[in-house]
Amino acid sequence: MTERKVQLHRGLREVYIDRTTSSFIDGDEGKLLYRGYNIHELAQNSTFEETAFLVMNGHLPTQAELDAFDTELKNSRALPAEILDIIRLTRNSHPMDVLRTAVSALSAYDPDTEDNSTEATLRKGIRLTAQAPTIVAAHARIRDGKEALDPDPELSHAANFLYMLFGERPTDEDAALIDKDFVLHAEHGINASAFGARVSASTQADLHCAITTGISVLKGPSHGGAAEEVMKMTQEIGEEENAETYVRERLRSGGRIMGFGHRVYKALDPRSVHLQEDAKELGERKGEPKWFQILQSVIEVMEPYRRRGIYQNVDFFSGAIYYLLDIPDDLFISIFAMGRVPGWTAQVVEQFENNILLRPRLLYTGPMDVEYVPIEERG
Ligand code: CMC
Repeated sequence: MTERKVQLHRGLREVYIDRTTSSFIDGDEGKLLYRGYNIHELAQNSTFEETAFLVMNGHLPTQAELDAFDTELKNSRALPAEILDIIRLTRNSHPMDVLRTAVSALSAYDPDTEDNSTEATLRKGIRLTAQAPTIVAAHARIRDGKEALDPDPELSHAANFLYMLFGERPTDEDAALIDKDFVLHAEHGINASAFGARVSASTQADLHCAITTGISVLKGPSHGGAAEEVMKMTQEIGEEENAETYVRERLRSGGRIMGFGHRVYKALDPRSVHLQEDAKELGERKGEPKWFQILQSVIEVMEPYRRRGIYQNVDFFSGAIYYLLDIPDDLFISIFAMGRVPGWTAQVVEQFENNILLRPRLLYTGPMDVEYVPIEERG
């Protein structure tokens, strides 16, 4: 048999699989738009609630639309008692595994689970956006031997998450940092987790399946896990003056600097600009400027890599922000996931509305037509 000539696209690098109106990324310019709106404007002017509405519905809400959306989110925050039981049973797992398991189990309690219409998918997207922080906060408390807290309907999405996690209402400044972090993570094209979610949707599985897949794919250190790794690295460096030796040694031994590099951005990730400012301001406010200074030193040592299109990404400063807010390291990826639920939902809606089964090919390079030998004759 003659070998077929095929063009391989390993890692699907630069492969466009469909059209979208959810977000636009110009990797050479470092530009990101959600539904046409520049991420810088949204980070400066919008709340997460408003951004989530934009991402899911395609337009900025009127005040009445935003109020209704906010009420729906607030009304959806509580978890069924059985889901809290599942969280208790799985409390020794990684927070992302607990989030994935609880989101999957929520399909049993959602009135729209099997309905893949746009309206039902958006309703489920709102519920999962509201439920994800409750799951993560409940798990963090339960594994520490504390009671899970009921959501506080007077608080915003971000402030309520911090309240459910720590048991006291956050300052407006701390809540604003998490709110902006959620805005910056809300949507990002066909990244690995959105691709996973779309593959699920392309088989006509439902939103709970798709978001369970998205959470699974996000967990890896090449994707959402990078923020946790960056903070580990920052702690290993320990002091600003150690940064240069640490980074050079890591690169020399073939390692990567986490929080650097991106498949699409070959310029500065625009999201990192806001997180950089926030990490600096928070470090000063908390009397711990050292972590920001270490990260700045790492950027200076990595300067020559800019020629190769390797800049700091969204995960580089977010870990320091979470750390300074006293959020445990292993919750960092879950915060990314909480912010991303609207983006996954929007992409699943797009997939459903113009569906095609996502089913690529693999080029077989193994042996052909091997003679089958009965087990008693194998040596
Ligand atoms: N440190 C050092 N070198 C790097 C890095 C890094 N962080 N990232 C890429 N490179 C080098 C890599 O060694 C390779 O060099 P060479 O051509 O000499 O072999 C070259 O750049 C291309 O790397 P690649 O792995 O082929 O590029 P990719 O597009 O597949 O990788 C990436 C993208 C994000 C997996 C990679 O940059 C990486 O591993 N970064 C660290 C993990 C990280 O920060 N992930 C978060 C990404 S942003 C949040 C998100 O959306 O998930």
